[in-house]
Amino acid sequence: MLVLADTIEIARPAEAVFAFVSHLENYPDWFPGVVQMRSADDLPDGTIGKRYNEIAVVPPGREEAVSVEIAEFERGRRLVIHPDLAPVLPKFTYEVVERGAERTEFRWRCEARARGASVALAFRLMRAVLRPRLRAGLGNLKRILEQSPEQKITAALQWRFGPPQEVLRVNDTRPRLPPGPGEVRVRILAASLNHIDVMRMSGYGARLFRIRKAGGFPLTLGTDVCGVVEAVGSGVSGCSAGDMVFGAKPPSRDGTLASHVILAAEHVVAVPEGLSPESAAAMPYCFLTAWAGLVGQGPLSDDGAGDARVFVQGGAGGVGSMAVQIAKALGAHVAASCRAHEVEAVQALGADEVHPVGSSDYAASLRDYDIALCSADPSEFDRMLGILKKGGGVFATTIHPTLALVDKHGLLLGPIKAKRVLAEQRREASKLGVGVQWVLFQPNRAALERLAGWAGQGRIRPILDRHYPLRDIAAAMIRLASGEARGKVIIHPDTEQARLKEAR
Ligand SMILES: NC(=O)c1ccc[n+]([C@@H]2O[C@H](COP(=O)([O-])OP(=O)(O)OC[C@H]3O[C@@H](n4cnc5c(N)ncnc54)[C@H](OP(=O)(O)O)[C@@H]3O)[C@@H](O)[C@H]2O)c1
Repeated sequence: MLVLADTIEIARPAEAVFAFVSHLENYPDWFPGVVQMRSADDLPDGTIGKRYNEIAVVPPGREEAVSVEIAEFERGRRLVIHPDLAPVLPKFTYEVVERGAERTEFRWRCEARARGASVALAFRLMRAVLRPRLRAGLGNLKRILEQSPEQKITAALQWRFGPPQEVLRVNDTRPRLPPGPGEVRVRILAASLNHIDVMRMSGYGARLFRIRKAGGFPLTLGTDVCGVVEAVGSGVSGCSAGDMVFGAKPPSRDGTLASHVILAAEHVVAVPEGLSPESAAAMPYCFLTAWAGLVGQGPLSDDGAGDARVFVQGGAGGVGSMAVQIAKALGAHVAASCRAHEVEAVQALGADEVHPVGSSDYAASLRDYDIALCSADPSEFDRMLGILKKGGGVFATTIHPTLALVDKHGLLLGPIKAKRVLAEQRREASKLGVGVQWVLFQPNRAALERLAGWAGQGRIRPILDRHYPLRDIAAAMIRLASGEARGKVIIHPDTEQARLKEAR
């Protein structure tokens, strides 16, 4: 027989403790090793016979799907669940005992009575796995329930990789930490989604991000942000509480799809007058990527463009729309391609000529371009090489297989394979005297300040798609992944703001 039990005192009313633990979908937030717990039917919480689909991590790190059923339920006091976990078939009991108005004892107990030789081994294993999880879990439960509203953040969390409707949860179980040296904590007014968020949600780049301490669970995605500085860490100058700022936090596990975020003060600048929070939040990540792809390539420098000619593939996209406007602001001649229904939008961004996909072949008419920025379809590699200046043109692409190759082949072999692909592209391009650059988003304060300056003068602006409240993050991710978004998808922590903006 296996019996494992523990108790913890929580400085909250019994009712609040029971409400939290009996909502079994909260399980991943407090009990280590449970990475998903989703209702499997439409029965209300606490209904005897209600089922849940649980995914738990079992040694040595394998995910196991378990069906869980509510066996007993005494509102406000006791809950018994049966996970269908053969061969041990355990029973978990949670009891809440009121010890005062704000004092509750929470009792956790696991019992299994199955017999047989294989069961004895399973019991030993289960005990070894559960004991430390139980200690940590009760500590988490106490922290989550005792923290005041000012000590919490609301965030979109995921505990495993997968599709948005399955893995994303929004709740206020994470603590609001103080910013460290050189950091600020920002109360978020708006964030925006990028493809990297959708891709990381399903596991893209997990190996590299984990080794850089930007991965792991619980994971909160999001890079772009606009908000109000709420707290400032030591050593921060030029930024104080109350300032409205915007910027991009490099990929992390505590991202901007939240009510608050901590990021380096270096990575945000003041929002210029007249720029709305959602427009500010829509630009930094794509702007800095486009900047990295254009500025410093060929004749294009941050001083200007001379008589540079720039081609932007996908000029209506997040990166493409920034690239068109950066190149124009620096004085280049800009041609862009885009979907037919986006032609007017790209012209309005200032592009000198626009080539709609399917009806105007840029490869037939453009010659001697200095830069071709690929930010939509890398299969047009040869066609873009063909428009570049022989002996000096640069093909720069934001789409390359570095992270996918690391995911597939690991941290040693992946980068070697990526280098081979780049070398092959460079060999191909060198036959025409053309260079190839793989572009990566990079924090760049000087460029961010340039963005703020241009945005304040109305020389750069984003194309916006829909507004979603943070609580509907799964729907927002689905919208971006569907390819139907016509511009940046904006996320508002404040549900009412999202409604008002969407209604406009
Ligand atoms: N390396 C990095 O650090 C980095 C940073 C940012 C982004 N990226 C990558 O760069 C790419 C672009 O990102 P984004 O945020 O700009 O995406 P986006 O907003 O979806 O922009 C892509 C645009 O190109 C259009 N398009 C698709 N095929 C086209 C074609 N053949 N010719 C012209 N236009 C075409 C798309 O239209 P439809 O939507 O109708 O297809 C869309 O308007 C993504 O693959 C993203 O992952 C990389």
